[in-house]
Amino acid sequence: MSIQPAEVAAQYATDRNLRVRIETHEQYTVGPRLEPEVDRLLSLRGDEALLDVGTGPGNFPGRLRAEGHRGRLVGVDLSPGMVERAASTYPGVEFVEASADALPFPNGTFDLLTARHMLYHVPDVSAALAEFMRVLRPGGRFLAVTNATGYMGELWEAVAEVVPEQPALAGLLESRAGSAVFSEQNGEPLVRGAFGNVEVGLLENALVFPTPEPVLAYLGSMTALQRLPDKDRLQVLSALRRALAPRFLMGEWRVSKRVAFLHARKK
Ligand SMILES: C[S@@+](CC[C@H](N)C(=O)[O-])C[C@H]1O[C@@H](n2cnc3c(N)ncnc32)[C@H](O)[C@@H]1O
Repeated sequence: MSIQPAEVAAQYATDRNLRVRIETHEQYTVGPRLEPEVDRLLSLRGDEALLDVGTGPGNFPGRLRAEGHRGRLVGVDLSPGMVERAASTYPGVEFVEASADALPFPNGTFDLLTARHMLYHVPDVSAALAEFMRVLRPGGRFLAVTNATGYMGELWEAVAEVVPEQPALAGLLESRAGSAVFSEQNGEPLVRGAFGNVEVGLLENALVFPTPEPVLAYLGSMTALQRLPDKDRLQVLSALRRALAPRFLMGEWRVSKRVAFLHARKK
């Protein structure tokens, strides 16, 4: 089942919930980090015009600008709240409210286009990829970053255990199944179909949690739990806490991550 557009809009109305998850990854990730791998794949000269679609709080183009990128940097997001927040955080970057499948730019505007952890939210991925092709110049490159199959599998196993007792959690698993609509497996033929070429890479690392609290904060930030009345959400979180407890008996709990990169060039 795919996530409904209204649910995506609710989830990203402001950056509050997303920030919880971004900070969880920043704080608890061990092993190779995402940003150096993105930089390696993009190998920027520093003067390219780059569009980041589904930019969220704009951290990626904001980081590039802070590191001295001289070319045009634009972040697009469907959520007005995200765009507002990103624009106030990173005044050196242009932020535009738009959907991935209707980008307000002329043909051939950008040298590079990135779509990081967002294509699994887009109802018609092929339409978005066609739009990406249109706004890239010939020779321009596209990089998608997405969750690979099995991403955070241990966490979802723990959630699945609690579903029979707390059916509200089924929504959490459904939204996760929705996230599987653009992985390294089903994304590869889509990108190849649009660009005629694609290279797929994987980055494997993990979240290592010292206590259940950050895990509960991470799960609690997701739409399926946010939309529950407070009383029900607390009940669900208590049930999750009980399911997590045995996982921490030996100390830390390791949740593996696999991130996929799909990299293509417009011929
Ligand atoms: C998981 S966040 C990723 C944010 C950022 N790229 C990152 O990696 O941290 C997904 C973002 O995609 C945006 N989004 C979802 N559907 C979109 C669409 N059709 N067009 C543009 N942005 C979209 C959401 O509003 C949200 O900000």
